[in-house]
Amino acid sequence: MKKYLQFVKPYKLFFILGPLLMLTEVGGEIVLPKLMGGMIDEGILRNSGTGFIIRRALVMLGCILIQVTGGILGHYFSVKAAVYSSTDLRKTIFDKIQDFSFSNIDSFSTGSLVTRLTNDITQIMNITRMGLIMAVRAPGMLIGGVIMTVSINPELASILLVMIPLLGIAIFLLMRTAMPRFDVMQKKLDTLNSTTQENITNVRVIKSFVRRDHETEKFRNASGDMRDAALKALRIVVCTMPVMTLAMNIATLLVLWIGGNSVIAGGMQVGALSAIVQYTVQILASLMMLSMFIIGSTRALASFKRISEVLNTKPDLSDENAAYRDRLVTEGKIEFKNVSFRYYKNREDNVLDNLSFTAGAGKTLGIIGVTGSGKSSLVQLIPRLYDATEGEVLVDGINVKDYSLHHLRDGVAMVLQKNVLFSGSIEDNLRWGDENATEEEIREAAKVAQADGFVRSFVGGYNMQLGQGGVNVSGGQKQRLCIARALLKKPRILILDDSTSAVDTATEAQIRNAFSTTLKDTTKIIIAQRISSVIDADKILVLDDGRIVGEGTHDELIKTNEEYREIYYSQMDREREVS
Ligand SMILES: Nc1ncnc2c1ncn2[C@@H]1O[C@H](COP(=O)(O)OP(=O)(O)O)[C@@H](O)[C@H]1O
Ligand SMILES: [Mg+2]
Repeated sequence: MKKYLQFVKPYKLFFILGPLLMLTEVGGEIVLPKLMGGMIDEGILRNSGTGFIIRRALVMLGCILIQVTGGILGHYFSVKAAVYSSTDLRKTIFDKIQDFSFSNIDSFSTGSLVTRLTNDITQIMNITRMGLIMAVRAPGMLIGGVIMTVSINPELASILLVMIPLLGIAIFLLMRTAMPRFDVMQKKLDTLNSTTQENITNVRVIKSFVRRDHETEKFRNASGDMRDAALKALRIVVCTMPVMTLAMNIATLLVLWIGGNSVIAGGMQVGALSAIVQYTVQILASLMMLSMFIIGSTRALASFKRISEVLNTKPDLSDENAAYRDRLVTEGKIEFKNVSFRYYKNREDNVLDNLSFTAGAGKTLGIIGVTGSGKSSLVQLIPRLYDATEGEVLVDGINVKDYSLHHLRDGVAMVLQKNVLFSGSIEDNLRWGDENATEEEIREAAKVAQADGFVRSFVGGYNMQLGQGGVNVSGGQKQRLCIARALLKKPRILILDDSTSAVDTATEAQIRNAFSTTLKDTTKIIIAQRISSVIDADKILVLDDGRIVGEGTHDELIKTNEEYREIYYSQMDREREVS
């Protein structure tokens, strides 16, 4: 709880002023019925004259003005407090998610994180605002109303004193039933968001596979589940209102009946009765407010738990214990020592099994292997997108865990297999590699990646706007832009994970040629399907089912390695068929 104070502190003043100003509303609501009752009894029944009535009316008008002004300001500050503090909370959660490792994100699912950042925070914002407005007002009206009623007529007050605890019990029971239902409702909202997000992000694939009906069905199910969960939870909220209104009307009727008899018998005056009726309505209204607040907080509490889960998650990949925090990657030498890796700690089967190899500084390492053999998993260990489960990954002789993440990832540029561009201009996207790059440098990197030619043919050239995810360039163009972006980082280690799969062989050869002149000192790791992509590499690893089954240059492997030969000749055959 303590850590949430940091979100309140900067807005202390709003958090205090909001409820405090609501005191004026409480004051008005307590004083006005009494003044009104006096006006009836003194001014009308005892005929104290128009002067008295006008004076009383002016006093009442003054009260109302104070009440309204105070009320508006009270609401204003309460809203401000709620909106500002929840915006800070949202930002903190967002920052926290940025620190998450891939496996942290996998464990929450993106849809759920989006719900937590949006809907859950909105719930908390609403309840904070409501709480601030009612913190003083509802109890004030309740207590003030009871005191005033007791002071005017203790006998009638006893009706309220029976009613209040009864309603209290009813509210408690409602809340206990509602709580778990709101939990379920938020979870269904997660699923709905995940489904929607997956669908909209991948709309192109869905259309091309004509999976529309299937997807619509999936959405309808998620949406139907959400509807049922919401109905189940809101049913309780809906019940609250009529129960409260009924109780309110019964209480008012009782007061009117008993009080009316008392007036007829001469025990009480009409004005006093009118005041008591108004207090009764107020007391019950404040109870109603409290019950709405309690129901609201039940829902917000469910959201609060979900947000705390995010805030309390420890990123399972951090550089807190880094021994050489100021060290930069200078040479780019890579060494794997008995490295094993699996995605799920509690599973037995390794994705990578006891790998050991080295890649010298400035050399080119090729990695070949069928899909699923662990190529992508292997290279992700170098910039610490995941941590090795056993063994050590060394860069320049130092364990990657001993670098600060910032320096390590600065030194290692990786073009992921599934890479994305962002909406914005091409230049903006390339600048991800280096914010301060000159136009010259941007052109240079694009030239090496063989992207300059087609970029300049675009209308607007480097200023052409890319759609979300870079939808308006072809697959091969996107890959080349991603390579250029990585080059701008001027990394010591460059990893290309199947990054030229959509680029034709001739262009790919040009990229390789450009690399050999401009990236002489950079260590290059190239994962490829085609042997032609790695044929010139200083060393090639052949990976099979998470194990290294071949290591050497192309010439060595052709002579000694059965697996490599198989891949090579099957690709040669295919090429011969084509030509
Ligand atoms: N994020 C992930 N979570 C769990 N398993 C994964 C993940 N990514 C890959 N895998 C599994 O790890 C194995 C190796 O995958 P990968 O390294 O992507 O192979 P390659 O790049 O050689 O095609 C596969 O069996 C795949 O199912
Ligand atoms: Mg892969």
